[in-house]
Amino acid sequence: MSAVVITGTQWGDEGKGKIVDYLASKADTVVRFQGGSNAGHTVAVNGEEYKLRLLPSGILYKGTNCVIANGVVLDPECLLEEISAMEKRGIDTSNIKISNRAHVVMPYHKVFDELGEQSKGENKIGTTKRGIGPCYIDKDDRIGIRVCDLIDKEEFATKLKNILEQKNFILQKVYNREPLNYEEILNEYQNYAEKISPYVCDTISLLNDELDEGRKILFEGAQATMLDIDYGTYPYVTASHPVSGGIGVGAGVAPKKIDKVVGVVKAYCTRVGEGPFPTEQLNPIGEKLRTAGHEFGTVTGRPRRTGWIDACVVKYAGQLSGIDYMAVTRLDILDDFDEIKMCVGYKIDGKILNEIPASLKILAKVEPVYETFAGWKTDISKIRSYDELPENAKKYLERMAEVTKIKLGIVSVGPNRDQTIILADDIF
Ligand code: GDP
Ligand code: IMO
Ligand code: MG
Repeated sequence: MSAVVITGTQWGDEGKGKIVDYLASKADTVVRFQGGSNAGHTVAVNGEEYKLRLLPSGILYKGTNCVIANGVVLDPECLLEEISAMEKRGIDTSNIKISNRAHVVMPYHKVFDELGEQSKGENKIGTTKRGIGPCYIDKDDRIGIRVCDLIDKEEFATKLKNILEQKNFILQKVYNREPLNYEEILNEYQNYAEKISPYVCDTISLLNDELDEGRKILFEGAQATMLDIDYGTYPYVTASHPVSGGIGVGAGVAPKKIDKVVGVVKAYCTRVGEGPFPTEQLNPIGEKLRTAGHEFGTVTGRPRRTGWIDACVVKYAGQLSGIDYMAVTRLDILDDFDEIKMCVGYKIDGKILNEIPASLKILAKVEPVYETFAGWKTDISKIRSYDELPENAKKYLERMAEVTKIKLGIVSVGPNRDQTIILADDIF
């Protein structure tokens, strides 16, 4: 297999970074195709932690190409910080490739992200305030600045002048704010342009040529299905397409070229930011999940909301992304629970629903139908084969596979590379 997708099945932070890093040992190239620095992917290698926001999680392997494709919104300041932090730690960054078509996150995008949240008041989305939504808005409004514009000195100066006039008008007249300074932004971004231009190329031909040559590509999803702008809990979503279909438009690789899709499933469930979360546990169980799992956001440090696994959501992700295998992560976090619950259906007015409701009013009213499993009360973090897992853990995993109709492919029992149990040997 030469094109494999890793996608999040819940509300993000499933451990996609760990699974990508693990599979990247076999890949020639790792590609980010959507989102931006709102992502926070933590990879643990030899007791060291690496927190990645824009850089693909293949960066820790020398010689692996790391592509930031056209569907990503690129914050150059954040990227350059990441590159320099990696270099300081002795990581080779010479194989980074940035799409000339990726859109650039500008200072006004961050300002409008903040102002948009403020103006929504109680209905705020709880964004990461990285300017992601406003950057995608400008892309759709056809006033965005792409990487190819940024590295063209004259083009950038003209585009910035025109756009900033428009943005400053809104800032002053609608929000009663000080305007942003053209010269300052111009200088700052020209400096970024010089630094990133050696990495810029046409990633569409690069990726398609690689596939033609039989090289192995791993597509690294950020965010997750329930944060997808079309399929998630709209409007409490991000502004991109984390589902596997996002690759066609986000990387210029046609759907028929994708060989396998792996859905990352946290063994319980978390969410950061606002919006419905049917299996949320606003009680001591939720508190125990947060403490045991150190569930605090990588990007914002916010405490994550916690709850039981929702197999309805994972099944939905499976349908949307065509998931072949589940990679179940953080099973070890459940080691100390007497009882573990799994939501296997939604009930409303006594009737079982067959789909995830589009209406948030209805979703807010659904009653999760739970099945209860006995815990295993054993430290599983040192187990390296499926057969050695406690029977109760296997029962839990096998029921998950049954309800979601997705095969088990990987089970992760800790953050490190070796804490990984492989059941599917045909992922790559
Ligand atoms: P991502 O955004 O999907 O990449 O996930 P995050 O990196 O935001 O959050 C997942 C966290 O769980 C990271 O700190 C990982 O190092 C860690 N992690 C991944 N898999 C496992 C696992 O199986 N067990 C434990 N204990 N931690 C894990
Ligand atoms: P990874 O890749 C968890 C959430 C935000 C907010 C909503 C919109 O680490 O799984 P945005 O800034 O994107 O406009 O915020 O989406 N969100 C994430 N939650 N993990 C992420 O990424 C997220 N990226 C965005 O908290 O609710
Ligand atoms: Mg994360």
